[in-house]
Amino acid sequence: MYTIVAASQKGGSGKTTLSGHLAVEAARAGTGEIALIDTDPQGSLAAWWNARTAPTPRFVKAGLPDLEEALAALDRAGVKIAVIDTPPAITQSISRVVAHADLVIVPTRPSPHDLRAVGATVDIAERHGKPVIFVINAATARARITSESAVALSQHGTVAPVTIHHRVDFSASMIDGRTVGEVVPNSASAKEISDLWVYIQDRLSRIVRDPALLPDIKLNHLSINSLLAPTDENAAAEVAAKAAEIVAEAAEAPPYEGQERRVLERRVVGEVRIPERRAFGRRGSDILIHPAAQWIYK
Ligand SMILES: Nc1ncnc2c1ncn2[C@@H]1O[C@H](COP(=O)(O)OP(=O)(O)O)[C@@H](O)[C@H]1O
Ligand SMILES: [Mg+2]
Repeated sequence: MYTIVAASQKGGSGKTTLSGHLAVEAARAGTGEIALIDTDPQGSLAAWWNARTAPTPRFVKAGLPDLEEALAALDRAGVKIAVIDTPPAITQSISRVVAHADLVIVPTRPSPHDLRAVGATVDIAERHGKPVIFVINAATARARITSESAVALSQHGTVAPVTIHHRVDFSASMIDGRTVGEVVPNSASAKEISDLWVYIQDRLSRIVRDPALLPDIKLNHLSINSLLAPTDENAAAEVAAKAAEIVAEAAEAPPYEGQERRVLERRVVGEVRIPERRAFGRRGSDILIHPAAQWIYK
């Protein structure tokens, strides 16, 4: 069983929203048996689950002392992925949950307060040697601060190439125990969540080196595809074949008919004399090249 932990010291960044949405999306996408674990004493996810009628994903409310046991029981029951929601701002308890993670997701709102708070969460993950993915959540469409936040976050680690925007769908859908994919399946919000899950599933499969976990769907965003290195031999062969195709195409291209650009290159022929005399007030960089230095065309 693999474990994804949603953590951030900042309350309201979207841990509960994204845990619930990603777990439901994972189950819907057929990733396997999914369990959702609420370790936040406030129990917002538990309240959401209580209002939910669908049987998937499984749900467990676990305190820190019984988390390990809960994870072992889910593993025995054949659960493939456990998604764990954590409480905000309690460093010690977050740290104990992160210790079980294969991947830590850090939802971050594009705001100075949220950005300032990520350092502490990253420190916890680093102390445990756990990979982190930042997910920009509740972004305003076309706001400059979103891209600025992505750049700021990228200084600390990987930023998911899928941004979750601020939409009432996200909070409204959770009122009766559902998610955007279940309430408004064709919406932009639902698309963001399904894209985000494909990306996270892909990352997770590479982190835990389990090709069986690779998603069937490939995202068409160039920014995502071009960055993902192939994990298995077939995929590597596919990439090599594509590369060979591109080279063959280039070889078949008609020769360039236009005027050739000549590159001006300076070749030093003979000895270069660096003057010993340094006139007063002159810099050492005022080096004279021997007249034998020639300009030639290559
Ligand atoms: N993308 C979003 N668009 C609109 N509202 C959101 C979004 N993400 C979270 N929210 C709302 O923000 C509030 C805090 O989110 P929540 O997931 O509970 O944060 P956390 O668990 O990190 O404290 C909730 O009311 C939630 O419905
Ligand atoms: Mg929460």
